[in-house]
Amino acid sequence: MKNILVTGGAGFIGSAYVLMARQLGFRVINLDKLTYSGNVENLNSLRADPGYVFVQGDIGDAELVEKLLVTHAPNAIVNFAAESHVDRSIIDPDTFVRTNVLGTSIFLRVAKKWWDELPQGDAKKNFRFLHVSTDEVFGALQLGDPAFTEKTAFAPNSPYSASKAASDHFVRAYFETYGFPALITNCSNNYGPRQFPEKLIPLVALNACARKPLPVYGTGENIRDWLHVEDHCEAIALVLEKGILGETYVIGGNSERTNLEVVKSICRVLDELKPSKEGAYEELIHFVSDRLGHDFRYAIDCSKITSELGWKAKHNFEDGLRATLQWYLQNNEWVLNVQSGDYRNWIQKNYTERTL
Ligand code: NAD
Ligand code: TYD
Repeated sequence: MKNILVTGGAGFIGSAYVLMARQLGFRVINLDKLTYSGNVENLNSLRADPGYVFVQGDIGDAELVEKLLVTHAPNAIVNFAAESHVDRSIIDPDTFVRTNVLGTSIFLRVAKKWWDELPQGDAKKNFRFLHVSTDEVFGALQLGDPAFTEKTAFAPNSPYSASKAASDHFVRAYFETYGFPALITNCSNNYGPRQFPEKLIPLVALNACARKPLPVYGTGENIRDWLHVEDHCEAIALVLEKGILGETYVIGGNSERTNLEVVKSICRVLDELKPSKEGAYEELIHFVSDRLGHDFRYAIDCSKITSELGWKAKHNFEDGLRATLQWYLQNNEWVLNVQSGDYRNWIQKNYTERTL
């Protein structure tokens, strides 16, 4: 059975990928620091699974990473671990530099050393390191601009995207300088189950259910290209298997919507799924002051991954959004635990985490 070392697998996208990788028959070692957005409950269904190992730790902990690599000898690494929220990066950029830049750099150094020392043979020849990144490294588009491609120049505007851009450059440099077998993916905004409710879709959905204001930054005209997390994970699996080393693949959902359209869609679906006697959810929309440096539009041209690897998003945004909202409505315990202040104590009481 093939081993995959996944980092950040307790987060939103990482947990969807871990679940998919287990279904595909890979043994998964999940290295996750369990920051505020990491949640072992996301992988509750794997608690008794012998093909899944959870290790709490930091990608920047060289000693731990080396020990993990030597112990598990992964055939591939998929690096999701990151600080992921733009608003937090505006308040506290250093934390983003620590994990996304320095953490990735240390992780790469240790992984490359381990790979260098592998004996010649299939394990060394076939090893792959996939770094998961964002389309935000390309900066902002205006209406009518062509969508981002693999050739678009980097122009990150937020501390988050600057830190991710730096991590992408390090991965690229490791391929160019040392021949380290790396690939990079840059995708658009993901949505789906288990997303931490600081991001637009879960935040608005949960605020609406609690009859709290729905904050729309600025005019609500900013545009994002929404990608279902399962489509994203399928693309990652394809790139890991068939992508060309040293290359970048951009991944998008071909579903551009203004933020106001998304918020109104959430309200309409909730009016149907959870009608409120207190009025339509749209009445809760509040325009608030804009995010500093708010990127206007992101959009992805997926021609390369579609033509070269045969990937295409399967989810249509409206159906995917409805299913996502149903998931949040049906997983009240998850929501309460994620939102509660003593979430960490709750984890310690309820879970015995498996470590090395
Ligand atoms: P998330 O915040 O839900 O999860 C991040 C995970 O990484 C958490 O489990 C956290 O505990 C872990 N982590 C953080 N710092 C760590 C460290 N130093 N060592 C080990 N683990 C650490 O984020 P997400 O939305 O799942 O994003 C995953 C990846 O995908 C990130 O690299 C992000 O930049 C990228 N990405 C996300 C989106 C999106 O729309 N969410 C879009 C494009 C790219
Ligand atoms: P977000 O989910 O934070 O993702 P990103 O900043 O990585 O695109 O935000 C998506 C869009 O929604 C972005 O244009 C900012 C906007 N937004 C709001 O209008 N209100 C909110 O409360 C949040 C969290 C985001």
